Amino acid sequence: MSAKRVLLIVGGGIAAYKALELTRLLRKAEIAVTPILTAAGARFVTPMALAALAESAVRSDLFSLEDEAAMGHIELSRSADLVVVAPATADLMAKAAAGLADDLASTALLATDKRVLMAPAMNVRMWLHPATKRNLAALEADGVAIVGPGEGAMACGEHGPGRMAEPEEILAAVQAALAGEDRPLQGRHVLITAGPTAEPLDPVRVLTNRSSGKQGYAIAGACAALGARVTLVSGPTALAAPPGVERRSVETAQEMLAACRTALPADVAICVAAVSDWRPDTVFGVKLKKGKEGPPAVRLVENPDILATLASAGAERPRLVVGFAAETGDLEANARAKLIRKGCDWIVGNDVSEGAVMGGDDNAVLVIDGAGAECWPKASKTEIARRLAAKVAETLA
Ligand code: CTP
Repeated sequence: MSAKRVLLIVGGGIAAYKALELTRLLRKAEIAVTPILTAAGARFVTPMALAALAESAVRSDLFSLEDEAAMGHIELSRSADLVVVAPATADLMAKAAAGLADDLASTALLATDKRVLMAPAMNVRMWLHPATKRNLAALEADGVAIVGPGEGAMACGEHGPGRMAEPEEILAAVQAALAGEDRPLQGRHVLITAGPTAEPLDPVRVLTNRSSGKQGYAIAGACAALGARVTLVSGPTALAAPPGVERRSVETAQEMLAACRTALPADVAICVAAVSDWRPDTVFGVKLKKGKEGPPAVRLVENPDILATLASAGAERPRLVVGFAAETGDLEANARAKLIRKGCDWIVGNDVSEGAVMGGDDNAVLVIDGAGAECWPKASKTEIARRLAAKVAETLA
């Protein structure tokens, strides 16, 4: 830790007084601090106090000839291992989300190539405002880590979320970010299949299923949030690709398999797609017409099994191969049989008989791995995804 340096941006809010304590704790933890104090921040704490605790000169002015001669603002923005914004006011968050650069703090945030950790602090109404929510989502999508805010009595007399996290909590988040602990899948490549496949019969008709892709997309997002490089091979869905995820859109099972093969090598493969087991053996080049001869007889042929193919890919086999089992009865026995038949390492069984799982927002699953079976009770697909991504990270560690 001793060689680590933080660029600490102190924004203009009453919580700025806690930034002084944070600076003291960072120094005590032997983390060097280069402070930037915004003009509004300087209304709450003095440059003198911040400089004394940081044991470093405070930068405030984008256009200071003296400061710029010592270290240009671009270099300054990259001189640390981590950029910390505490307090991150609604204004600073909005500027960073929009990519504005009209003072030293916002310019440093736009110019940096380092990770950014923000500790938001603002009035409860400001925190709950749709504009702040939009900005927060945009910042998270850009990979900004967020600590807090907490809930409680605020200096403005109101009560609710918006209080800046305590300095000890911010210090812990800084240490985790510096150690890469909040991104345990950094450097890993995760390949995920999701959604249905659509198998054409003619130019207008397809054989498909009710999969929405929600569970697979949520897993892709959760793995990306833990730092993984994620390739999401997706059948047709109405969903947007989660932030930081590279999506390859396909239609048929054969295209899905080809896209997966191209995406290898991968450390992990998670097959969530509801791949059509069969496809029409003849794809007509023109639309089939009703006629005197009656409805056409459609013959089906079996599609390749993507999960089984990846699990038996020899040298190219991902270290961890995870399958899903959609069952309408005898979940554990069927899922276990599938685990063996397909040669994967874990299988995540879900009961799709109720009708609420496919297309719904919740899921309850049975996770079977080498060690046994874990039952994860009903939760949002996002929560199930987070748990699965954390289990993957733990297993690869
Ligand atoms: N799968 C796949 N390719 C296929 C069929 C399934 O990759 N052609 C994967 C799914 O993504 C899932 C797992 O295999 O991870 C199990 O899918 P499921 O539809 O439950 O099983 P099936 O293989 O269709 O077996 P069954 O027909 O016996 O239910």
